[in-house]
Amino acid sequence: MSYFVDKKPHAVLIPYPLQGHINPLLKLAKLLHLKGFHITFVNTEYNHNRLLKSRGSNSLDGFTDFVFETIQDGLTPMEGNGDVSQDLASLCQSVGKNFIQPFGELLRRIHDSADAGLIPPVTCLVADFYMPFTIQVAEENALPILLFSPASACNFLTTFHFRTIFDKGLIPLKDCIPGLQNFRLKDLPDIIRVEDRKDPILEFVIEVGDSLHKASAIIFNTYDELESDVMNALYSVFPSLYTIGPLPSLLNQTSHNHLASLGSNLWKEDTKCLEWLESKGLESVVYVSFGSITVMTQEQLLEFAWGLANSKKPFLWIIRPDLVIGGSFIMSSEFEKEISDRGLIASWCPQEQVLNHPSIGGFLTHCGWNSTVESVLAGVPMLCWPFYGDQPINCRYICNIWEIGIEIDTNVKREEVEKLINELMVGDKGKKMRQNVAELKKKAEENTSIGGCSYMNLDKVIKEVLLKKY
Ligand code: UDX
Repeated sequence: MSYFVDKKPHAVLIPYPLQGHINPLLKLAKLLHLKGFHITFVNTEYNHNRLLKSRGSNSLDGFTDFVFETIQDGLTPMEGNGDVSQDLASLCQSVGKNFIQPFGELLRRIHDSADAGLIPPVTCLVADFYMPFTIQVAEENALPILLFSPASACNFLTTFHFRTIFDKGLIPLKDCIPGLQNFRLKDLPDIIRVEDRKDPILEFVIEVGDSLHKASAIIFNTYDELESDVMNALYSVFPSLYTIGPLPSLLNQTSHNHLASLGSNLWKEDTKCLEWLESKGLESVVYVSFGSITVMTQEQLLEFAWGLANSKKPFLWIIRPDLVIGGSFIMSSEFEKEISDRGLIASWCPQEQVLNHPSIGGFLTHCGWNSTVESVLAGVPMLCWPFYGDQPINCRYICNIWEIGIEIDTNVKREEVEKLINELMVGDKGKKMRQNVAELKKKAEENTSIGGCSYMNLDKVIKEVLLKKY
């Protein structure tokens, strides 16, 4: 239901240029579009080309009022075969230095088109909070800016306190983040343990934390009860916060099938997985995916592989072409033979559809926030092997606070993988976790259905912030 009859308000959205950030922001863009906004969605040119390639298409633009624009990422290609756009340190440095100019120029071009009457004038910016330069651009253009937290509220809270933690020399970290109870130093982003004050990721995160107060408002892909302590701590510090998650569930409240062609996959989806799942029994399959950034050694991959094989449970495993450090890896014929009747390996899949397939009974995950939320919404319990950044925090929530998952030791061993898969799929603990996750799923759906808190918050933030200049 659109609010506007004549001229539309115009939101320009820009994600941090990684898969796990593009996905939820595109969902928000679709929601705003359904509310009547003209949308400009800004990707890096490199990612835009990957999106096109993954779809085998020349264009993503299906609509005149939902437009994709691009800016250069300013990254210097790596030597060898490495993909610099997946390298966090390079990305952080480039976002800090190289994005502001092309983004400012893009806005000027958009203004020119608006002056010529071709599109509605820009009325607001919506940016991933890891894109702090957008705040300056918003100020220069006198536009309201809404910052979007693509990960948990807990991750946002730790980012906000980074400068204090470092400036006060509060390491090892002890009780210094109000709102964070029962967390160990091990659970906080690994960047908190970096000693070099000049580390590019550390400098970037501190700059991000410093910028948060300057936003017009901040929105979270979470719901209040899911992270109540953290949200309460944040509400006491920031005047204008809105929880609008989980976004996949909020989007599912609307009829948005006509927007399905606007996808965000940077890798080509292998849809054979869905057919394969049809042949499997109810809740019998373990889905295994480590998201878009995690990498592992060949040894770690082998431990997972043999743990999965020895568990004797069917599994669908996503092995991205760049998952294994040092390039692609070929499984032995012995392994292939062992799993031939019950294992399927693919390089990328439609994850939300897979998780919601009745054959899926458990998820072995790296605990990215999108995967966590998608698993909750599908009512699927998890085995957790967090890799970096916010993932250890998410793992702590999953295993110790919500009790919907079990953690696998960082030093992964096949015997442990085998044992925990059995616990997850057929053990008593797995049964209890399935009940707990069903409860969280129910609450998530209540929050995002008509009249629910997240549902109402989206309307509130549109009226109170995004339409300020309209
Ligand atoms: C990282 C962080 O850990 C995460 O918390 C942050 O918010 C984004 O960046 P990432 O490795 O991308 O995460 O994982 P995740 O947040 O789980 O996002 C991965 C996305 O890719 C999910 O939306 C998932 O559905 C999608 N995906 C993954 C697929 O569509 N197909 C696949 O085969 C694998």
